[in-house]
Amino acid sequence: MNNFVYNIPTKVYFGENQLENLGAELSKYGKKVLLTYGGGSIKKIGLYDKVVAEISKAGLELFELSGIDPNPRVSSVNAGADICKKEDIDVLLAVGGGSVLDCTKYIGAATYYDGDAWDILLKKAPVEKCLPIITVLTLAATGSEMDAGGVISNPETKDKIGLIFPVMQPKVSFLDPTVTYTVNKFHTACGAADMISHIIEVYFNMNQDLYMLDYVMEGLMKTIIKFAPIAMEKPDDYEARANLMWTSTWAINGFVNGGKRQAWSCHPMEHELSAIYDITHGLGLAILTPRWMEYTLNENTVSKFYQFGVNVFGLDGTLPQMEVAKKSIEMLKDFLFGTLGLSSTLTEIGIDDTNFEIMAKKSVTGGTMYAFQPLAASDIEEIFRMCL
Ligand code: NZQ
Ligand code: ZN
Repeated sequence: MNNFVYNIPTKVYFGENQLENLGAELSKYGKKVLLTYGGGSIKKIGLYDKVVAEISKAGLELFELSGIDPNPRVSSVNAGADICKKEDIDVLLAVGGGSVLDCTKYIGAATYYDGDAWDILLKKAPVEKCLPIITVLTLAATGSEMDAGGVISNPETKDKIGLIFPVMQPKVSFLDPTVTYTVNKFHTACGAADMISHIIEVYFNMNQDLYMLDYVMEGLMKTIIKFAPIAMEKPDDYEARANLMWTSTWAINGFVNGGKRQAWSCHPMEHELSAIYDITHGLGLAILTPRWMEYTLNENTVSKFYQFGVNVFGLDGTLPQMEVAKKSIEMLKDFLFGTLGLSSTLTEIGIDDTNFEIMAKKSVTGGTMYAFQPLAASDIEEIFRMCL
């Protein structure tokens, strides 16, 4: 295995009533707070009032940016950065799901750039500084609360780009499972599909694995498979919501990487889908992942699928490897499309093959995607077709 650096510098307050620490944490970074949020769910669930009360109790000055869309737009990043520059904001407070958190990360970075924030996504502007970010997560899915990445959409160019900058890592994140009780069935299911995909992107790897990390990943996947249906059935089940929330964080905070160096596969493909069709990220991943698995399953890769089938789905390990491998993909489909009830094809959600060629080309910037199995644009186009 390769060497690696372990450094995940986000402090986490996990559980109920932890917001009483919010004022003290914000105060460490200054007086002027920009609160960022989405379309209003935080007001409906009473979280907005609680956050504002803590800010006011701490004697801090509050500014706001609302209306951050799912698949957050670069226009919101620019709007937020303008406020930060004009008001001399000290600290950002993102309250919401991955979209709000991602957007806020780029607001923090764009504050130090005089120009269109899209330049940052195009790698035309360096990111060496970022305002400090504190998050209050309301949806378990992306892991943005404990990673340094973020994905931004540009509807004008129909691009959606994700980058990682260490300076955008949140300083502190508040993870209270009870605030996710109001996440509806669809978004709970999409969150589960997203987090399982984050693990699959790392687990299916041709590098020599660290046995211990494979077991951690299998445990995380089993946790999602066990608790997502419970949370959908009984939205206020604390144990289910807590397990999903902490799993989403650990699925992508870097711990499971263990020095593996390879590109992700389904995420670049999905970002092309949500760039053009504005679909929910987890739904796109649910449709793509089993087809990508079918496409990449062969004699070279079969042992990893076998391991997945036996250790995650409890399949009979005495059966031939290929049989277990194929069955494991069927089990994943049953989970995503049966148990979680997500749409199983692109056709079902109104997407045809019109843009497959261009989407495939854009997924593999640089020619080939050096992933679990190297994929050229023509391979990716074929995988999109398998999703119809
Ligand atoms: O806008 P509001 O009113 O807040 O409503 C949201 C939104 O409509 C709602 N919601 C959130 N918390 C809620 C709630 N509704 C009721 N009760 C609550 N407690 O849910 C809807 C979806 O929210 P969104 O933030 O878009 O979902 P998610 O957390 O799945 O974020 C998706 C975005 O994150 C990116 C995706 O590409 C997508 O743009 N990703 C970010 C990653 C990262 N930073 O590392 C990695 C991921 O792979 C992913 O690409
Ligand atoms: Zn994802």
